[in-house]
Amino acid sequence: MTILVTGGAGFIGSNFILDWLDSSSEPVVNLDKLTYAGNLANLAGCAGSNRYAFVRGGIEDDARVGEILRRNGVRAVVNFAAESHVDRSIHGPSAFIETNVVGTMHLLEAVRGYWSKLPNAGREAFRLLHVSTDEVYGSLQPGAAPFTEEHPFRPNSPYAASKAASDHLVRAYHETYGLPVLTTNCSNNYGPYHFPEKLIPLIIHNALSGKALPVYGDGQQVRDWIYVKDHCAALRCVLEAGRPGETYNVGGRSEMANIDVVLTVCSLLDSRRARTDGRSYDSQLAHVADRPGHDRRYAIDASKIERELGWGPAVSFAAGIAKTVDWYLDNPDWVANVTSGAYRSWIEKQYA
Ligand code: NAD
Ligand code: TYD
Repeated sequence: MTILVTGGAGFIGSNFILDWLDSSSEPVVNLDKLTYAGNLANLAGCAGSNRYAFVRGGIEDDARVGEILRRNGVRAVVNFAAESHVDRSIHGPSAFIETNVVGTMHLLEAVRGYWSKLPNAGREAFRLLHVSTDEVYGSLQPGAAPFTEEHPFRPNSPYAASKAASDHLVRAYHETYGLPVLTTNCSNNYGPYHFPEKLIPLIIHNALSGKALPVYGDGQQVRDWIYVKDHCAALRCVLEAGRPGETYNVGGRSEMANIDVVLTVCSLLDSRRARTDGRSYDSQLAHVADRPGHDRRYAIDASKIERELGWGPAVSFAAGIAKTVDWYLDNPDWVANVTSGAYRSWIEKQYA
């Protein structure tokens, strides 16, 4: 049997594939369009594996997806493919609707076509796991109870709205066609291979480059941070034992205000690679204009997945952020390749 991962050249997808190949003997096919966020260097560790295959393509190409499913006898699909950055969605929502909404619908159609022709046992065992975000729930007031799976959807950015639409489509395919789907809604991830447009890798990169560390508004917005490997472990649990048609919230039990995240990164860098002038990296901090529609707080109640599937986060924020800072310090070539855009030229040459 084989699993199909879509969007596996991005941040979470590449961590998921690397962990999958380490912890399972089952082959993986990775279908990724290689947008700006897709980087095959993340998967250099799979190069020698005969259990890994890469296909460049989009989830919206249902004929291609159908062919991959049939040719490999796929027994499960894990969908990471998405446009994922809130700020980009504010500047240009259309790519978010194209991939996250229309693309997901085409993926669902391709999967439904394949699944409906499987023999009974294959149809029953088949799973589509849709990887989504806590941002679909909107913003929490300070002190309010964390999001449960029953929390109403109130997305506030075009990104969050497009992911909410995709979650609804996935649910509808279960209710209407009986497709055995699973959905996860996870909080903010951090860790290796995180594209440096997102807060944590951006702060590490800017600090080391002597640039300003931009903190939106008052920096008191709260996110519930989870180390990416913990998220990947939760996805493996849900794929293995989640109940079809259900959604599972996944979080790190680590609520932090943005300003505290930035100060933690600065102090780790101070202790590991001190500035030559002896000042702290926090002297580079700059409060900048707030993000429009900026959600004030996200927090996840993960008791359902903890209770039903026995998953819980294993890595504390203190341990995970130290590992993450060390990874960026140890991998300057990966960072340079991404920030210079060199990985793009390679992709264009390779797939010309
Ligand atoms: P990412 O932007 O790093 O990676 C997205 C990947 O999808 C890239 O490799 C890109 O090339 C690929 N892709 C984009 N459009 C595609 C298409 N049409 N067809 C095939 N591939 C396409 O994103 P990420 O941070 O790894 O997030 C992965 C998923 O997890 C997303 O669905 C996101 O909504 C969800 N999620 C992310 C977080 C987080 O903190 N990053 C938290 C919860 C959920
Ligand atoms: P981000 O990493 O973009 O994730 P998301 O918007 O999906 O939560 O941002 C995390 C938080 O950090 C969010 O509240 C916005 C804030 N932020 C900054 O303050 N400065 C920045 O330069 C970025 C990219 C984000």
